[in-house]
Amino acid sequence: MCISAVSVGLLLFILWMLAVQLCGQTNRQRDGDAKASSQPEAAVPKLLHSLSKRFLGPISSPLPGPPSLPFLGNMLDLAQEHLPIHLTSLAQRYGNIYRLNFGNTTMVVLNSSEIIREALIKKWSDFAGRPYSYTGDIVSGGGRTISLGDFSEEWKAQRRVAHRALQRCTMDSLHSVIEKQAHHLCQVLRDYNEKAVDLSEDFTVAASNVITTLTLGKSYDKRADQLQKLHDCLNKTVSLWGSPWISALDSFPLLRILPNPPFSRLLKEVGRRDKLIGKHIEEFKTLTDTHVHMTTVDLLIGGTETTASLLNWTVAFLLHRPEVQNEVYKELCGVLDVRYPKYSDRDRLPYLCALINEMLRLRPVAPLAVPHRAIRNSSIAGHFIPKNTLIIPNLYGAHHDPEVWEDPYSFKPERFLEGGGGSVRALIPFGGGARLCLGEAVAKMEMFLFTAYLLRDFQFLPASKEEPLPDLRGVASVVLKVKPYTVIAHPREQ
Ligand code: HEM
Repeated sequence: MCISAVSVGLLLFILWMLAVQLCGQTNRQRDGDAKASSQPEAAVPKLLHSLSKRFLGPISSPLPGPPSLPFLGNMLDLAQEHLPIHLTSLAQRYGNIYRLNFGNTTMVVLNSSEIIREALIKKWSDFAGRPYSYTGDIVSGGGRTISLGDFSEEWKAQRRVAHRALQRCTMDSLHSVIEKQAHHLCQVLRDYNEKAVDLSEDFTVAASNVITTLTLGKSYDKRADQLQKLHDCLNKTVSLWGSPWISALDSFPLLRILPNPPFSRLLKEVGRRDKLIGKHIEEFKTLTDTHVHMTTVDLLIGGTETTASLLNWTVAFLLHRPEVQNEVYKELCGVLDVRYPKYSDRDRLPYLCALINEMLRLRPVAPLAVPHRAIRNSSIAGHFIPKNTLIIPNLYGAHHDPEVWEDPYSFKPERFLEGGGGSVRALIPFGGGARLCLGEAVAKMEMFLFTAYLLRDFQFLPASKEEPLPDLRGVASVVLKVKPYTVIAHPREQ
């Protein structure tokens, strides 16, 4: 008798809670915006709301997502070889916003540019945080890089200083710094005398020299020992940090007590990196403060592999569609006659700009941006997002969204020409809002000038008839890179 009274009571309580939940959902469907999920009080009686919040968590339809295994959660999804492609395929099954679990963390993946814009731009102040991670803390000198530092007054000041310094460089000297490197790059390619070579290192040196000129006041020869050491160390740091052996330490603290050779190597590379950069900073007698040090690290890492990879991807795609490079060449000759382009020529070179936009769309080199953290309770696309949720902007997914892009997997620069149907608004390779890529202006000028110089001076040809054309799937880590390939740079007759 007593038991059945309790059961009936429980049943009534559950039904009541369900009613509250349904009431919340109807309310949100009507309103559909952030306020509905963070302030549902307007439509739900206060008492019901606070009770439901207490017992059921915030009122919202649960986020869809793949089944989560005991203990492992969705770790197997996160360990996929090409994560951006895997996350994009999950969006086809679970929609443009879904969740993944690992350890005790919930991760929300955003896969359309509208949803990413809502979180990163419209509600930037809710999602400008960065998640803390054990390994991230080690590589960022205790969260003191701009890219991994959490949102705080200190971080805002650091970003402001770096932003102003970059803006000043952009206005004063960036154009001539890039021009110099572009000329040098063309000379290096000429010196290969049409030998089939892998150009990735030359692209890296060109992009890196732009950044070292801005940050350290000098550029390096490709063979310079210091440059080789710096690249080797930065590359190893980024790729080791992206490896599952090391990310597992963030989610499973118990693993930290076991021997882990990749992690020991990462610690060694971080130490090497800090010695190399520390030497330069001391040399310049600038502030020897960790923030300055880490900002230099940020600009070097952020500004080298990204631009270089995009150039490497561009040549790889052009080998698949040679008529595109001929179109760009025709446009350059028609508009500029024999002179080299300036950044101010870009409005007169729509085909070249369309090519760059298409590359940024197809191969956003930071395909999953950098994880964000919800600083407070908020909502995205009508779903409640609790404070501290990890947010992954899947830029790769947004750029392949079939709702926005016709034939999204095809390489078609023409889509960005007038009337071609490509949406520049839906293009978000640099993220947005408070965490917008700090080097966007630098990268855009570099991409324009480097690509223009290369396609003005060279026709890129496959290494041989026998070898397959470059693999366009790529290797995804923090940066999305093309697999190594060789190419012939055949000089154009001017
Ligand atoms: C094609 C080239 C580039 C692309 C596609 C790119 C893309 C991105 C993306 C997607 C983010 C993360 C945004 C987010 O968290 O939502 C980012 C952050 C960042 N990028 Fe870039 N980037 C490029 C080049 C550069 C260059 C040249 C520099 C330096 C000069 C740079 C410096 C940074 C820094 C410092 C951050 C961290 C910003 C923050 O957390 O506030 N990037 N970039």
